Amino acid sequence: MTGMTRREMLAAGTALAVNGLAGKAAAQTAPATGLNALAAAKGMRFGSCFAWAPAGADRGSFANPAYAALLERDCGVLVPENEFKWQALRPDATTFNFDRFSDMLDYAEAKGMAMRGHTLFWHKTERMPRWLNDYDFGADPPKSARTVLGQHIRTAGKYFGDHIYSFDVVNETVSEQGALRESALSRAFGGTEAMLDFAFHTARTAAPKSQLVYNDYMSWEPGNDAFRTGVLRMLEGFKKRGVPCDALGLQSHIGIRSNDSVKSLVAGQERAWRGFLDEVTGMGYQLLITEFDVNDRGLPADIEKRDRAVADYAKAYLDICFSYTQLKDVLAWGMCDKYSWLQGFSPRGDKQPMRPVLYDAGFKPKPLYAAFENAFKAAPGR
Ligand code: G3I
Repeated sequence: MTGMTRREMLAAGTALAVNGLAGKAAAQTAPATGLNALAAAKGMRFGSCFAWAPAGADRGSFANPAYAALLERDCGVLVPENEFKWQALRPDATTFNFDRFSDMLDYAEAKGMAMRGHTLFWHKTERMPRWLNDYDFGADPPKSARTVLGQHIRTAGKYFGDHIYSFDVVNETVSEQGALRESALSRAFGGTEAMLDFAFHTARTAAPKSQLVYNDYMSWEPGNDAFRTGVLRMLEGFKKRGVPCDALGLQSHIGIRSNDSVKSLVAGQERAWRGFLDEVTGMGYQLLITEFDVNDRGLPADIEKRDRAVADYAKAYLDICFSYTQLKDVLAWGMCDKYSWLQGFSPRGDKQPMRPVLYDAGFKPKPLYAAFENAFKAAPGR
């Protein structure tokens, strides 16, 4: 792969150092088994994030046979959990390293699974590489800012535009208070809107066949009104300014944080969520569920009760979302509880392992799996 890398780099005439490029045609036929088969029957697709790891590592990776078996049973689409982020791809302004991502793409394509790209730009200072936050934008900051962001999007688009059918072009630029976030890079652009517009236009040119997505974690739960409104205002602005954004990615990190019954929680949340989705789809955007999991921190330790509440809450959420035929792709943020990011990020007060995704730590399907089966079966076709 290294030889090809150098040849492609020279052929491209790029001044950048680019390692680890995949060089074969995309072959994408979704496996017709498990959840993806149920999804496919409705014109939808099911998938998950996954990780790169050395062979045999106990991780949520294709290199772990037990985890790979889950991916191959249920998934028609995959997304790297971390390996397509700037921290993973770009150690400094002029060096790219796609080695790990290329291994993941090779796996997905060998198994006939489609690939998403997460994310061309995560606009949150704490998620941007230090070298970018400390970057010297020189005498002409807007020009230099366009160069640094443009090189990233063009490089990824040039080499992977035919292999990544859908990019999260921008991730999380709206704050929970509904404002557009700022950063050293957005200030160099002269403002966040100018930066967002540039990112989407550059992505459209670099990867003209790919779906371009704005991805964020505004949710259906209480306390998200200002957040959802901020996302709507941004999406409206895109339409007014002709910004080529095709879809809204609903991350869908949902969770139960009160003692209320699932039924009463859903009754209290459905109207606002439908109102939000009505407005998004009314503007002509497609929808995706990009990072589904359920935070069970607020639920009792009892596993049977906990799994039941998680499954019921998820089923209600999925039914609402699936009623929008603009939504076709549904990705879980991991297939197995053991490897979920939530184990470290948001541990339970009682220190019990969390149970946020479809398979338990012993790789057995949980009630949440059945909730997905039933939601796909109940979904209208598209
Ligand atoms: O790879 C290093 C490892 O070498 C090192 O020993 C270890 C020590 O902490 O860190 C490892 O990197 C961590 C990486 O996950 C892989 O495990 C990073 O510190 C950690 O910050 C990173 O967290 C990820 C987080 O995004 C930040 O990038 C989570 O795995 C990932 O699930 C999470 O995903 C985000 C989506 O991208 C966007 N939406 C929200 C979602 C959840 O936060």
